[in-house]
Amino acid sequence: MRILFIGDIVGSPGRDMVQQFLPNLRQKFQQHVTIVNGENAASGKGITEKIYKQFLELGVQAVTMGNHTWDKKEIFDFIDEAKFMVRPANFPEGTPGKGLTFVKSNGLELAIINLQGRTFLPPLDDPFRVADHLIDEAKKRTNLIFVDFHAEATSEKQAMGWYLDGRVTAVVGTHTHTQTADERILPKGTAYITDVGMTGPYDSILGTDKEAVLKKFMSSLPVRFEVDKQGRTQLNAVLIDIDNNSGTAKRIQRLIINDDHPFHA
Ligand SMILES: [Fe+2]
Ligand SMILES: [Fe+2]
Repeated sequence: MRILFIGDIVGSPGRDMVQQFLPNLRQKFQQHVTIVNGENAASGKGITEKIYKQFLELGVQAVTMGNHTWDKKEIFDFIDEAKFMVRPANFPEGTPGKGLTFVKSNGLELAIINLQGRTFLPPLDDPFRVADHLIDEAKKRTNLIFVDFHAEATSEKQAMGWYLDGRVTAVVGTHTHTQTADERILPKGTAYITDVGMTGPYDSILGTDKEAVLKKFMSSLPVRFEVDKQGRTQLNAVLIDIDNNSGTAKRIQRLIINDDHPFHA
């Protein structure tokens, strides 16, 4: 099985990039499953039901989330019915939604888990112990397990990679919106990258209008952050090839599409 995972999609510039390039990526790489992180898909803050459904119509099989999951109030109206959406599993018990889902492809099942870090982010349940429980749950059905670890600190992400090495297919990081060049297969067969990066405004600061962020840094006054809709755009993703029998990863490859790294069909 081959998975394409697209990093945090920011606002309409990010959604437009997915719409524009997903058919080309599918033609070139022939991935079986496409997963996206959608926590910033609605104007940088959260996701709407309409956008979730648009992703599924584009052929995305699952949407992962993060600390922005609850930014759009309407999430509470549809998250329990959104079968292919996972939010961080280590939210307190009773939180709407779920942190584990399954998608089918060619008679195989892939488990998809979303977890959130606790370093430089609001306190949540221990993602490591929650991961243990979810992996036990997933293994009843499949060896193919994909983990999106939505976290800020590189150390916490590396810790999760090593903790889950050999027990899951992949641990990919999201949230920092900047792709890291440390993709590798860990010794026991888990694909790992600290951060997949961001899909959206290229001439921006993490997807946000750079003038506004600069003003914030330089004035300390409250500033309204908007997604930059005018400038150039980018797409960041990873491809992961899986050994279907063992559930280990054979290969992880970073993808960058922007004006400095044009897409070649
Ligand atoms: Fe994000
Ligand atoms: Fe985030």
